[in-house]
Amino acid sequence: MSANKIFIFDTTLRDGEQVPGCKLNTKEKIELALQLEHLGVDILEAGFPISSPGDFESVRKIAETIKNATVCGLSRAVQKDIEAAGEALKPAARKRIHTGIGTSDFHIKSKFNSTREEILERAKQCVTWARNYTDDVEFYAEDAGRTDNEYLARVVEAVIAAGATTVNIPDTTGYCLPHQYGEKIAYLRNNVSNIDKAVLSCHCHNDLGLATANSIAGIIAGARQIECTINGLGERAGNTSLEEVVMIIKQHKQLNFYTNIKAEMLNPMSRLVSDTMRMPVQPNKAIVGANAFSHSSGIHQDGFLKDASTYEIINPDEVGAEGSKIVLTARSGRSALAHRFQKLGYQFNRNDIDVLYETFLKVADSKKEVQDADLTEMATQYKPEALLAS
Ligand code: KIV
Ligand code: ZN
Repeated sequence: MSANKIFIFDTTLRDGEQVPGCKLNTKEKIELALQLEHLGVDILEAGFPISSPGDFESVRKIAETIKNATVCGLSRAVQKDIEAAGEALKPAARKRIHTGIGTSDFHIKSKFNSTREEILERAKQCVTWARNYTDDVEFYAEDAGRTDNEYLARVVEAVIAAGATTVNIPDTTGYCLPHQYGEKIAYLRNNVSNIDKAVLSCHCHNDLGLATANSIAGIIAGARQIECTINGLGERAGNTSLEEVVMIIKQHKQLNFYTNIKAEMLNPMSRLVSDTMRMPVQPNKAIVGANAFSHSSGIHQDGFLKDASTYEIINPDEVGAEGSKIVLTARSGRSALAHRFQKLGYQFNRNDIDVLYETFLKVADSKKEVQDADLTEMATQYKPEALLAS
């Protein structure tokens, strides 16, 4: 059975850029857009053109520059937003308008002071307006995660009939559990009569740390697009992280999915986004964190040195990381110490290592990490002749 393609919709330049302090100028946005295209994203959400003249300009310039990926602009279900998106996207080789409205009762009552029937009409209307500018229209049902499934199915059916070719089911507040989000997608697949005419998309936020798990549950249930950002940037706790979903799909071949992402670019891309947005990546971040391939406890180091696959499921080269690291701390063991002395050019036997290990532990207890300079000092004081001529 041939594998199913999962479309990667990158929203680093839109949802990611909404993070306080991450605002980008047009030049920075174009540079990142070019790299994202090179990375292999299928759709690139370039911004929200009506939101400011600067963002309109950025979307316009990205539309002029990008040749392979589809360039997408966000809008509310408001005619002037859609006109602005259509105008900004005019030069694009491939363009998509992403428009929509809140469908949960929280949004319908508190945000719009409206009714389900009125929102249904506005949903159809915005898709009809957007179709005047492009055949590629994505509708988002904001807060779909907390929207009643029966009503959501009516909205989805109506917007597909109005011409939406992708329907985004955002878990805007990051509320759903993976099985609930998966069931929502399955419900739509089973209860929307024209569902075969559109791609269902997962757009999950990370308020409970479940964005990636929910997106994967979504594709297992039949969605075929994931909306994500580099480093998981996005509103509040962020969005689904692109690097995580790509590597889950790659690691778990039995899921029978693939993406067009060049995995070896994931770490360089993460660093570029972090530097450009001046937003550090947490060290324990999966795939791209500084500690993602570091081993510091004695038990792990011993296993890793015998066979890397005992403690690593991904080869760091595969994701463009610097390489695995053995970090020497007070939790490290003799194997790691011997390994590091050997790398520094010392030839010590087992007895030597036993003696040196006692000194090592005293040094390690007094600092967070033992460095090569500390080891050289230990070795020089103990047995300088152990240094092999290089
Ligand atoms: O989280 C969300 O619902 C959004 C929509 C605008 C797609 O970002
Ligand atoms: Zn979002």
